[in-house]
Amino acid sequence: MAHILVVDDDQDILRLLDFILKRAGHEVSAARDGVEGLAIAMERPPDLIVADIMMPKMNGYEFCRQIRAASQTAQVPIIVFSARFQPVDKQTALEAGATDYLPKSTSPEDLLKRIEELLAESTPGGTRNRAIGFFSMRGGAGVTSLAVNTAIALALVKKTKVALVDLSPLGGHTALMLGLRPSRTLADALNSPRLLTPDSLAEHILPHSTGVHLLASPPSFEAQFSPQHRHLPRLARVLKSSYQFCLFDMSHQTFDEQIASIWHQLDRVVLVLSPDLPSMQSTAMALQGLAWVGVPAEKIWLVVNQITPHYQLPSETIQKSVRREIVATIPFEPAMVKAVNSGKPLMMSGGRSAGATAIARLAARLVG
Ligand SMILES: Nc1ncnc2c1ncn2[C@@H]1O[C@H](COP(=O)(O)OP(=O)(O)OP(=O)(O)O)[C@@H](O)[C@H]1O
Ligand SMILES: [Mg+2]
Repeated sequence: MAHILVVDDDQDILRLLDFILKRAGHEVSAARDGVEGLAIAMERPPDLIVADIMMPKMNGYEFCRQIRAASQTAQVPIIVFSARFQPVDKQTALEAGATDYLPKSTSPEDLLKRIEELLAESTPGGTRNRAIGFFSMRGGAGVTSLAVNTAIALALVKKTKVALVDLSPLGGHTALMLGLRPSRTLADALNSPRLLTPDSLAEHILPHSTGVHLLASPPSFEAQFSPQHRHLPRLARVLKSSYQFCLFDMSHQTFDEQIASIWHQLDRVVLVLSPDLPSMQSTAMALQGLAWVGVPAEKIWLVVNQITPHYQLPSETIQKSVRREIVATIPFEPAMVKAVNSGKPLMMSGGRSAGATAIARLAARLVG
């Protein structure tokens, strides 16, 4: 049984949906406009929302935007169910944050089928698709290395395609590490007017032999994109609806309100730190920033990456300083540097080394 919020100013629609959904075993909350819907959603976040567009006080587009902007509801699937059926209405709804758009001419059976599909995709412990961000505020902590190798570990073990998105606005290193030429990039995808479907995204993706599907960072200055690009949150949602695992190399994101919605798409943030004092300071700042943009503390996993063979602060000291559990420690792995220079990531070379084993273990925990 799921809790479904229906927002519509038409009493007949409310009654009809109440009947259909309750008959299917769901609990229904009803609201007659966006303001009332928002109040219900904030007090008790639903599992799914069905919302109209043309409503008094707050229309459906603004309602979707506000649902996406709040961390507690940012990931709730929204079906916009509207009498308007022009392509531009659908486009506007999807850009505002709707997960799908169905015209009111849709049969009750088809509406229910779509609701059940979206609920199944977002059921914890089920076939839930996951978005995982890799991040550090300290440059060179190994964020890209861990994102690339974890993506490969997931693709190989789960035998599924894994999306990897390089959010460096310019010259990110994922393509280089995977030995791919970034002929198509995330910037092209963001600037494409046909961005909004999995099919149109496919033409911008670089497939890797391991099953990793890369959206690369642009290699040229002219093509760089802004992390505040208005399509970025939508792109993340489309990817998440099509891939069981979607990994983001968060690069050097700031904690700007404009890009908060990207952070809200993530089910997990792997916060990477190297075992040294500057990294501990950066980690403390990153934890503050993540709290500020509304990422719940339980979503954040601290992973220590030993990027040098030299003296490093012991785990206990780090743990005490950041006052958080260290979920995994990746040992210094000489083969990692060689892997970077050969375009053949560590996880492709048999996976027996200590570094590869630790990354495989991290990937397994991310699945569980
Ligand atoms: N566990 C490790 N053992 C040995 N070398 C490592 C390890 N992790 C990363 N490295 C090396 O450290 C360097 C920096 O790694 P990487 O580019 O992944 O860091 P980053 O955090 O993404 O950096 P940037 O801030 O430039 O985005 C690379 O040469 C990589 O091979
Ligand atoms: Mg990097």
